[in-house]
Amino acid sequence: MTASSLSFRLAVLFVIAGMAMGIGMAASQNHAIMPAHAHLNLLGWVSLFLFGIYYERRPSLDQSRLAVAQVVLWSVGTVVLTIAVAAIHLGYTAADPIAALSSFVILAAMLMFAYFVFRPARYIAPAPAVHMTPAE
Ligand code: HEM
Repeated sequence: MTASSLSFRLAVLFVIAGMAMGIGMAASQNHAIMPAHAHLNLLGWVSLFLFGIYYERRPSLDQSRLAVAQVVLWSVGTVVLTIAVAAIHLGYTAADPIAALSSFVILAAMLMFAYFVFRPARYIAPAPAVHMTPAE
């Protein structure tokens, strides 16, 4: 599977979970886990979808195992961070080191992405844009 299709699929799963969490908070009128909901949606939906768009525009990078590894690392970090942040806000402060560790996992995944963005031009050049020619 390419990095972009993995990103899009996981992003959709994350936003479904994030929306369910939001509905749960609203229905119960208990917003304690709001920071976990916000992180899940912004890391898991918004950022992952943006990675997917970037990868899809760069076919050689999209096929690479390193890009797939970046998506997997980001997603694992997001799941663990979300659970740990929720636990902390529910009073389980023992989850603090897990949140700290997962934040470094996510940072590592962002550094991988930064490497792709700053790599030599042949890797970062986007695919040629499709031009539409009007019918005569
Ligand atoms: C069914 C969809 C959703 C529901 C029912 C929902 C519900 C909620 C609720 C109840 C809060 C707590 C508000 C508060 O305590 O002040 C909240 C906060 C938040 N939500 Fe959602 N949400 C949904 C989708 C999303 C999505 C898709 C995103 C991001 C792309 C998002 C991002 C946020 C953020 C960033 C906050 C924190 C806002 C703040 O700091 O005041 N939510 N949401």
